[in-house]
Amino acid sequence: MAVDVTHANRSQLASLPPGPRIAPLQSFRYFRDPFGYYDEMKARYGDLFTMPTMNGTLIIAMSADHVKDILGRRDLAVGFGFGAIEPVLGRGSLLLSTGDRHRRDRKLLSPTFHGNRMRAYAPLVIECTEHEFKGWVDGREFCVRDAMENISIEVIIRAAFGVQSAERVLAFRTAIREAILEVNPAILFFKFLQRDFWGRGPWSRLKRKLERLDSLIYQQIEQSRNVLAGREDMLSRLLEARDDDGTGLDDKALRDQLVTFLFAGHETTATTLSWAFAEAIRHPAMLKRLRDEIVPLGPSPDPKALAELPYLDAFCLETLRTHPILPEFFRTVATDDCEFAGYPIPRGVSLAGSILMVHRDERVYDDPLRFEPQRFVDHNYSPHEFLTFGGGQRRCIGAAFATQEMKLVLGTILPRVDLDSKIAGPLKTVRRNGTLAPEADVPVRVVRRIDG
Ligand code: HEM
Repeated sequence: MAVDVTHANRSQLASLPPGPRIAPLQSFRYFRDPFGYYDEMKARYGDLFTMPTMNGTLIIAMSADHVKDILGRRDLAVGFGFGAIEPVLGRGSLLLSTGDRHRRDRKLLSPTFHGNRMRAYAPLVIECTEHEFKGWVDGREFCVRDAMENISIEVIIRAAFGVQSAERVLAFRTAIREAILEVNPAILFFKFLQRDFWGRGPWSRLKRKLERLDSLIYQQIEQSRNVLAGREDMLSRLLEARDDDGTGLDDKALRDQLVTFLFAGHETTATTLSWAFAEAIRHPAMLKRLRDEIVPLGPSPDPKALAELPYLDAFCLETLRTHPILPEFFRTVATDDCEFAGYPIPRGVSLAGSILMVHRDERVYDDPLRFEPQRFVDHNYSPHEFLTFGGGQRRCIGAAFATQEMKLVLGTILPRVDLDSKIAGPLKTVRRNGTLAPEADVPVRVVRRIDG
């Protein structure tokens, strides 16, 4: 059962860490400029501050030590703010489940994302990358973000459902894109807008688009159930998954998990890849080092060898560190006797681990604002220091899938093309569908294809 995010009462608020008090103003300033807002709060209040928001009270933790404490706590296992997305993802989504239900589902789903499963998806990522790369001809101008989205959406559709035919992939792609276009934060947050108005209006449109996507998913579940042998896709693995009592996932639960993978798994990866291209173009010496490492693997590198290259790995990690897609992860207090950093924290208040601020903390990262992959060659950072995928019991289940995809896409493309971009200097970060994305979606021009 989800815990309601309640507003703490006045006396409870008074005993929380210090912080600003006017909710709408804080939400507005934070959404407009999370970096500037957090920097100012840190200068005023130190590593911990209380932030009233329109959706409840948040305690923002900005040091690695506080984050370590949050991630180690068993009494903090509920996400925050995702409840609003339930009409889209469904009640069975791993992102929304809590307590025993979350533990059970996590156990059922985890094998689908383990190491040997990842290797099975590698040829698919390379095939989708090659398909997109065919169209990168000399002189062509385009946005890297669109190209990466083409790859990541095809990868996740085919990895999730095992669909092969171009027609079927297109049907899924269209259904997903049309549904995403109808996901409007206002109708998710304001329940009174979730009404039909005689089949018209944004809520009805969203429902129709989701029904279209659901009908494709349920057809695919039916077909896959009949032919499981020899299949490697996520749906087939989930159809076989059983918990300790021998119970599996019913069709609705399968649908909810698969929709979650589709929504959580493609925009995030596409955006991170766009940042990686932007950084490679901005740092020619690093690009040369990447090429020098990749080229000796030959024209069709073995995916496993690519995924194990140390500098490519470090380059991806540094991209994920400097450009986290989500600025923080959340945990909501689900007990009546929670204490954190010496403060009693009322039930329903959420703690947020600030991924942005830990990644910009000089106590953890030397010269943190500098893009420097070498730091990940020289040093292993702890789970509470490198937080792009969150951490603890709720760490992103698709982290290995996403990092493998990054390495395979970059390893396939970077040695074979010279790109330039009109944008000089570092790209600004803007909000895009709830994620932190590069401004203008990284416009580039193909200077020349090196592979002819
Ligand atoms: C660069 C790509 C990605 C980034 C930056 C990212 C980031 C995150 C973050 C920050 C969380 C919250 C973790 C926490 O609360 O501790 C999360 C959760 C999650 N992610 Fe990802 N993600 C990415 C790719 C993916 C992919 C490819 C999938 C699936 C195919 C996926 C599925 C999920 C799911 C199901 C959860 C909920 C886990 C749980 O609550 O147990 N993500 N992700």
